[in-house]
Amino acid sequence: MAMIPKETIEEIRQRCNIVDVVGAYLPELRRRGSTYKCNCPFHKEKTPSFTVNDGRQIFHCFGCGAGGDVFRFVMDYEKVDFVTAVSVLAERVGVEIVYEGGQPDKSGNKDVLYKLHTDAAAFYHRMLLDSPEGAEARRYMEERDLPTEIIKDFQIGYAPQGWEELLGRAVKKGYDPEQLEAAGLVVPSDRNGKKSHYDRFRNRVMFPICDQMGRVIGFSGRIMNKAEKGAKYVNSPETLLFKKNRVLFAFDKARKPIVESRQAIVVEGQIDAIRCHQAGLDNVVASQGTALTENHAKMIKRYADEVILVLDSDAAGLKAALASSEIFIANELSVRVVTLPEKEDPDSLIKDKGIQALTSLIKTAAPAIDFLMDTLSGRDDMATEAGKMRVLKAAIGLIVSSPSKIRQDNMIKAILRYGNYSTVVEELRREHVAKQAIKKKIEQVNAVVPVSKTFPRQEAALIDLLMTYYHEVHPLLHDYLPPHLLTDPTCKKVIEVLMLDPPESITEQFHDLDRDVQELLYARDKVMKDAKTDSKTIDDSMLPIEVAQRYVQLFWKRFIERESIALVNNKSLSSEELFIERSRIKQDLHALSKGWEDTQPMLEVRLHKDIEF
Ligand code: CTP
Ligand code: MN
Repeated sequence: MAMIPKETIEEIRQRCNIVDVVGAYLPELRRRGSTYKCNCPFHKEKTPSFTVNDGRQIFHCFGCGAGGDVFRFVMDYEKVDFVTAVSVLAERVGVEIVYEGGQPDKSGNKDVLYKLHTDAAAFYHRMLLDSPEGAEARRYMEERDLPTEIIKDFQIGYAPQGWEELLGRAVKKGYDPEQLEAAGLVVPSDRNGKKSHYDRFRNRVMFPICDQMGRVIGFSGRIMNKAEKGAKYVNSPETLLFKKNRVLFAFDKARKPIVESRQAIVVEGQIDAIRCHQAGLDNVVASQGTALTENHAKMIKRYADEVILVLDSDAAGLKAALASSEIFIANELSVRVVTLPEKEDPDSLIKDKGIQALTSLIKTAAPAIDFLMDTLSGRDDMATEAGKMRVLKAAIGLIVSSPSKIRQDNMIKAILRYGNYSTVVEELRREHVAKQAIKKKIEQVNAVVPVSKTFPRQEAALIDLLMTYYHEVHPLLHDYLPPHLLTDPTCKKVIEVLMLDPPESITEQFHDLDRDVQELLYARDKVMKDAKTDSKTIDDSMLPIEVAQRYVQLFWKRFIERESIALVNNKSLSSEELFIERSRIKQDLHALSKGWEDTQPMLEVRLHKDIEF
């Protein structure tokens, strides 16, 4: 096994001041008296209890108890082992590690993948800057108005035409094709029954995508010639390093400006983000055309209070803006939306009209609720009762996504500026409060279930099914089984994680998970053994998808039964409302007792969103 000599470790420790290292990861770290403080990266909190002690060179969180030296911080933050943490810091301070007993394992661990990406980015970059093959790409850069200075700043590159340009060079450098495959840089093929590989990115301008620390973890490659067939952009696939729902282009460069302004501007394309940075607007990141997720919101929330969404003015852009607003608002961020003039994106706008055109749009951007009212009332007829209800329902939907009562009230005030809607708004809000009351009651009913270290058999079995047959059953469970139907908080949490990410990534997020979730996963074998005996629900001849359907039915049935109990105890409903709710429950339970063909349409109705664009 590879070992790092003790003296080397001590030398690295000597050279790494923990305040600098932690500060590089957490730019919001501030001096407070004799220690440094900020919000803890290892648990959720609103007031800082995470401290770094310069004198003793340790960190400690009074909230969650995390703590240790500089190596421990890197291990916990990056979720890497000790050797990797040491080598990350060694690189930072320029200490070369001479391993005792051979080099560390090269088989696709994160370390190798980082190195590989660094090397690949450098190779592509060189090709763009001065290779003969890069001539057309250099012309393209000129055409797009991206000068050398920017090319260097963002380390933009060019992937040459051939099939084994990167592959050949990397193999010569000592990498295995399997490592390149794990990095997503080459694609496997098995022509003639023999496994071989070829470059994923060919004849494209290459934009390196970096993590928060500025390390390259993936690429986006743009075609240069419209006439050429193939996608306009080819991106790295999901790898050990590259998780689409956790990266934002240019976040590494924008992080400090975001902290300083407490504001993050989100644009769609990488060239848009680059253009903004070039023009001096540097708290800008790009979503790269993917839907914004909870993870993105959390990433931003760590540094900012406000998000400005700058999106295309087409229908897809509007829909995306509304969906993203809801996610950001739910994470306690203020959201304002900039609608660009038709056919413009930030890149073209800045080029045509200058950066002021964009900054003034940002200055006057409407809060998300106004944006929603403006857009939807323009598309629906507010003069008709049905149209009005659709719009206001959508508005209330956005409002209740905020966990803050004050924000909710402010947003309601905003709606009332659009018209005399107070009665309807009040009604919709009451409806929501009643629903909340039912939910609370259900929680109370559930809370009676004693909390113990044994997990509900069927809920554990569901986790087992999802972990074992992820690809088969995930889509169905994702669409039809909202995690809140589960009663055990630990099982619920695991299912929530699995809904967002495949099982492999659970181990990576391990440190972020609650203690009892960790325990469930530690004890998975034992728990699952109990679960396997769930012969009441499943028999051996069923396909995974059928088992999943059966579980969906089971958990919905239990949920609706609890809903029915809560209803009986709910005093805030009129007898008519009670009657309607009861008959709905009866019908739904009936549908659940039949086959999937009957269950599915019923669930579609239950889960159906009120408004479609
Ligand atoms: N995108 C992608 N795959 C595609 C098309 C787009 O990943 N096939 C992503 C890219 O990150 C792109 C963003 O979605 O930057 C927005 O797409 P689009 O508006 O089509 O491109 P622009 O950003 O305007 O790119 P360009 O200016 O180079 O045309
Ligand atoms: Mn563009």
